[in-house]
Amino acid sequence: MRVVILGSAAGGGLPQWNCRCPICSLARAEPERVRPRTQSSIAVSPDGTDWLLVNASPDIRQQLFDNPVLHPREGLRHSPIRAVLLTNGDVDHVAGLLTLREGQPFTLYGTNGILGSVNDNRVFDVMAADVVRREAISLDETFEPVAGLSVTLFSVPGKVPLWLEDETMQIGAETETTVGAMIEAGGKRLAYIPGCARVTDGLRARIEGVDALLFDGTVLHDDDMIRAGVGTKTGWRMGHVPMRGEGGSVEALAPVAIGRRIFVHINNTNPVLVEGSSERSDVESAGWTVGHDGLALTL
Ligand code: MLT
Ligand code: MN
Ligand code: ZN
Repeated sequence: MRVVILGSAAGGGLPQWNCRCPICSLARAEPERVRPRTQSSIAVSPDGTDWLLVNASPDIRQQLFDNPVLHPREGLRHSPIRAVLLTNGDVDHVAGLLTLREGQPFTLYGTNGILGSVNDNRVFDVMAADVVRREAISLDETFEPVAGLSVTLFSVPGKVPLWLEDETMQIGAETETTVGAMIEAGGKRLAYIPGCARVTDGLRARIEGVDALLFDGTVLHDDDMIRAGVGTKTGWRMGHVPMRGEGGSVEALAPVAIGRRIFVHINNTNPVLVEGSSERSDVESAGWTVGHDGLALTL
């Protein structure tokens, strides 16, 4: 199985267009100290030929340009992307669907809860119904979006997308609106969980023994955004478990056997983004890799 991290940043990317926090400022001024990153997406293939895109970020056009394996290969119009899977309805995971118009056939997969919000929004009808098939997938049902690649979706603690929040919103609920994906090919397993509000026993059991885990690295501490002075929201309020502190993912996932553990969906306020920082070496010495765009794995 081949895996490429197309975008390793959370919503907004790095630098975020309107942000002058120290980390965004460094990403502009000293990219060798803070690598710029695009928004959250990966591509997975059983053979390097046909690809599944998991999440379609607003930066997708740049991401496809930057990764030649995803370029058109034959005839006048072509794409090696056979299917797109959504793990939630966040803007950073669905806005790229608007770029995938132009009459290119593929299948769009997601739970009813996630696909429903796309179906309800008519702007997504730019993906022509006669060429882009939308297929709802039940939790825990294994399906094959690309020949040779098996995928199973499972619920993780989360919340509805920011743009769908209302007074009934529950944080940490395990529903169809935030899912992880277990992706298998050739006897290898990848768990992709870019959004997760809390590490539970069920999650630990689910990912035990995977060859690689790509996991929610939005915030280092629950109060990153407050510490950075850019907002009042905690990680919990955004539906993201912190790396460190009470209930932090580094400690909570330490007992689980995992081949490679890599943080993705990293918010631009997270100090682990700074190369050589003590925060970076702290998570690295706990066995984690801080993901970056273009990081590729062969499992
Ligand atoms: C998140 O992951 O919390 C969302 O992407 C936030 C957003 O939609 O801006
Ligand atoms: Mn997000
Ligand atoms: Zn910033």
